[in-house]
Order: sequence, then C-alpha cells, then structure tokens
Amino acid sequence: MDSEETAARLLQPKIHPLKLFDAARSQKRLLYACAPMVRYSKLAFRQTVHHFGTDLCWTPMILAKEFNRSRVARDSDLTVSTTAAAHDEVPTIAQFGANDPVELSRAASLAAPFVNGVDLNCGCPQSWACAETLGAALMGRRELVRDMVVATRERLARDGWDVDSFAGADSDDVGGRVGRSVSVKIRVHKDLRQTVDFITTVLGDEHHRNIDWLTIHPRTRSTPSSIPINVEALETLTSMFGTKLPILVSGDVFTLSTLPYTSHLLDPQPTFTTSSHSSPDTTGNDSSKPKLHLPNLSGLMSARALLANPALFAGYDACPWEAVDVFMNNVARAPLPLKLAIHHLNEMCGPGFGPDRNAALLSKKERIRLNEISNWIDVIDYIDEIKSQRGGKGGVVRFT
Ligand SMILES: Cc1cc2nc3c(=O)[nH]c(=O)nc-3n(C[C@H](O)[C@H](O)[C@H](O)COP(=O)(O)O)c2cc1C
Repeated sequence: MDSEETAARLLQPKIHPLKLFDAARSQKRLLYACAPMVRYSKLAFRQTVHHFGTDLCWTPMILAKEFNRSRVARDSDLTVSTTAAAHDEVPTIAQFGANDPVELSRAASLAAPFVNGVDLNCGCPQSWACAETLGAALMGRRELVRDMVVATRERLARDGWDVDSFAGADSDDVGGRVGRSVSVKIRVHKDLRQTVDFITTVLGDEHHRNIDWLTIHPRTRSTPSSIPINVEALETLTSMFGTKLPILVSGDVFTLSTLPYTSHLLDPQPTFTTSSHSSPDTTGNDSSKPKLHLPNLSGLMSARALLANPALFAGYDACPWEAVDVFMNNVARAPLPLKLAIHHLNEMCGPGFGPDRNAALLSKKERIRLNEISNWIDVIDYIDEIKSQRGGKGGVVRFT
C-alpha cells in the first residue's frame, strides 16, 4: 500500500465511542473495554481482545510531552493498523500522561486522525509519575484537569473534529463522521467528598460537558490492587453522576460471572467454562454479603484478567486455545518484541483470574520451557506440539 493509500485508510471515518455505549445499552449489556496497560495494551493484543467482543480498547499511557517532541516516540507509542477493513478496525482510545493543557491538547491533535478518542490518566500511582504531577497526583489538581480537558476539546474542535457530541448523545448522528471523544480515568480519594468535587469540576455544566465519559478505578492512590475495589464508593459515584454521563468501572473485572456487584445490564450472561471444575469465589470479595446493584453503571474495563484471558468478554471464564491462536496470528501481522509476546503467552496459558485457578493451558514446567525459547518460529512449533499432544485442539492441565 503506498503512503497516499495508507493516509486515506487512516482517515476513514471512525465511530464515535458514545455510539458504542449506545449500541451496548440497546443490546441490554454493559460496554466492554480493555484497560490501558503500559507495555501490554499494544496493537496485536488490542486486536485480539476486540476479536473476542471487547468494544473499546485503550493504548498504554503515552507521555504527551515526549509524544509531541519526538517522531520516534510517536511511532513506537501509538501503533494502529493501516490494513484493517473498516469493520475490523479496533475502536481505540489514546491515553496520555500530561500535566499541562498545551501539551495534552497538542498530543490529542497529533493522535486524533488515528484514534477514536483521547483520555487523560489521573490514576497512575507510581512515584516517578506523581513526582511530575502526572497520573494520580492529578486527583489533587482538579482545576488543572478541567483546564486540560477544556483546552483539548477546544483544540480538537479548531482542528475540525466534532467534539460537541455529548449534547447530541441521543441523536443518531452523535459525533458525526469526524467525532472524537475526550475522557479521563481516575482513582478515588479516601474522603469521597473530594472525588465528588473533582468530578463536578471536571465534568462542566449540563450544556457544556468537558468529558464524554469517565472511568473510575475505585481504589485510592495507595490501595494495592490485591485489596478488592471499593464497591460502596462506586455505588455513590455512579448514582450521583451515572445519569449525567457514562461511567466505566476499572478494577476486579475478573470474569462476567464473578463481578462484585449487579446490574440490569448484566443478567443473564452466558458463560463458557473451559474446564469441568469450578471452585468458590476467589476474587477476594466477601461472597456472604449481598451484592450492591449499580443501575447507573455503563461499562466494564478489565486489565489483569483480560491479559490472562482475552476472551473474557465473550463469556469465557478461562482462556481458550482459540484466543492463543488469534493472538499469535495478530503478532505475526503486528509484531511485538519476542520477550513481550512470550510474556503475553505466559499470561494466557497460566492459571488466570477465573473461578478455577487450578487449571491452565500450560503447566508451570511448560511455561518455563516457553520462556527459554529464543525465536518466534520455535514458539509457534512449541505451542503446536503441545496442542497436538493434547489431541488436536488442546485442553487444560490441572495442577492439583
Ligand atoms: C501492567 C499494567 C499496566 C498498567 N498501565 C496503566 C496505564 O498505562 N494507564 C492507566 O490508566 N492504568 C494502567 N494500569 C491500571 C489498569 O488500567 C487498571 O486500572 C488496574 O489494573 C485495575 O484493573 P484490573 O483489576 O482489571 O487489573 C495498569 C495496570 C497493569 C496491571
């Protein structure tokens, strides 16, 4: 494909993400999203989860300042497909780390032709990020966050993208053909009143929304991911703001059948179990407590569990061999560094986050062997060999 053809393909109209929220709601289900994951949520992986029903995929966090200044950073941080047919295209949100309205709006302007929307990371708890007023440090800077999203909307509008979509979210033409979204991903404060103030400031008034939707990771900056999410905080925030704009939850979406809350958009959910056994709730949530109902939640975002099982949103509670095959085909077309691709396979073939954590596609010994392989052809041969040993399509191993 020559560069003109590539440019034309890239500039094909993209669906406005709010339309995906509408479509999910009309199918009486929540929207399914793949979380931003530094190192991992790259093109081949996003294509894989999209194949298995994930509606919207985030890129890893990209540092806006570097993205604006370096073509090398742009080429390595934002990989998009130039070959996908329009219906195969993965709706993608570019997530940025930024602390300055000019930097974020410039980065959004550069990324807009290639993605469906841009998102600001207000959740990264790592000390290097917080020291630079990036990520979770922004949870203490609500006016700055508002200024960043307002400047970004203005810049995208000046560039000719339709960002005035929220007011028309109910119309058929939401975002038109050139609509782009602006959103933020946040954590919560220990004192939830601060989170309420934060959202109120960033959201803007009813006629001029500054963001199209919000992703809430209901843990504080210092809560480790081994502690279950704060469902009470999520209930409060979705009931206060979930009728004003769509809210996605990020955190502990391990399988569709083991969520620590209920929603009218969740039942009934088909689940496909890839092994014959299942064990009690291993999500860390207290299964003796009645689950809270979240009528104003719009979507589910998964990170760790989707890494382990890209078919999660197709209703599988453990990774099927088919997902491994789809991933390996995608890596052949949208290559990843060998060690990274093998790391993905290790995650997919390990015990995962489903209810049965004693089953896996590969035993521990087989995964150690996989790690030692030094080229992709041998990886393909090794996986094929194991699948044929297990009788054609493969199967799970039980290690108890
Ligand atoms: C390896 C890894 C990388 C992550 N990178 C990002 C990131 O770039 N931006 C972000 O907002 N969150 C990032 N997160 C946080 C996740 O998006 C998510 O909010 C968190 O892991 C909770 O979801 P989970 O329980 O589904 O894992 C990352 C998480 C993991 C495990």
